[in-house]
Amino acid sequence: MEAKDRIVLALDVDTLEEGLGLVKKLSGYVGVFKIGMQLYNSVGPDIVRRVHELGGRVFLDLKLHDIPNTVGAAGKVLTRLQTYMFNVHAAGGREMMRTVAREANAEAIKNGTIPPLILAVTVLTSISQQELEQEMFVTGLKVEELVVKWALIAKEAGMGGVVCSPREISLIRQACGSDFKIVTPGIRPLWSAADDQKRITTPRQALDQGADYIVIGRPIVKAEDPCAAAQKIIAELEA
Ligand code: C5P
Repeated sequence: MEAKDRIVLALDVDTLEEGLGLVKKLSGYVGVFKIGMQLYNSVGPDIVRRVHELGGRVFLDLKLHDIPNTVGAAGKVLTRLQTYMFNVHAAGGREMMRTVAREANAEAIKNGTIPPLILAVTVLTSISQQELEQEMFVTGLKVEELVVKWALIAKEAGMGGVVCSPREISLIRQACGSDFKIVTPGIRPLWSAADDQKRITTPRQALDQGADYIVIGRPIVKAEDPCAAAQKIIAELEA
């Protein structure tokens, strides 16, 4: 895979114009555009079609979490949109993940399209060890241990990979093998501001630890020259 294709640009804006403006500007420098709940809930599924018209691939970061039948049906619709990747919460359970994998694959076969890469979100990186124990009542396990256990269940249930914190990359890679895709946010090149991200890693470190895709927003989008910033990241990945 080319270095550029490993970069997933977070389109954290809420208008079609801003979103498509970024796609037009940065198509040559990133491999995938991440559309999250902000942009998707503002603009609707049309945003996916419009990004495709501009030649971009889409990661729909909607973190589906509901009963198996509902998530399966949603996965079918997102497959019809020909998303490159979408994600679900591993906390929805093995059956939910199995159902969405089955429905998405069946829909892709029916339509003769490429099945989406479905990713599981394990423990949100915003959840601390203390919250896990005192508010979610998961005791006797470190966050990292839970993340690995859920990643293994996700793999068995047919998920193609996970979204995880950079600090969990090597544990998951070790447990789940080389074919399991690892997508990680919290990426900051040395020359950019950390913003509100706490446990950050550089693009190169993420790759060295075993990530397949890195999610980057503000270091590119808010840079004085976004294309130059993306180019610098590509150079760092290729170094
Ligand atoms: O601007 P920045 O590079 O921090 O954007 C990171 C993107 O990755 C945002 O869309 C954010 O919601 C997402 N993300 C994250 N940390 C997670 C999960 C997702 O930063 N644990």
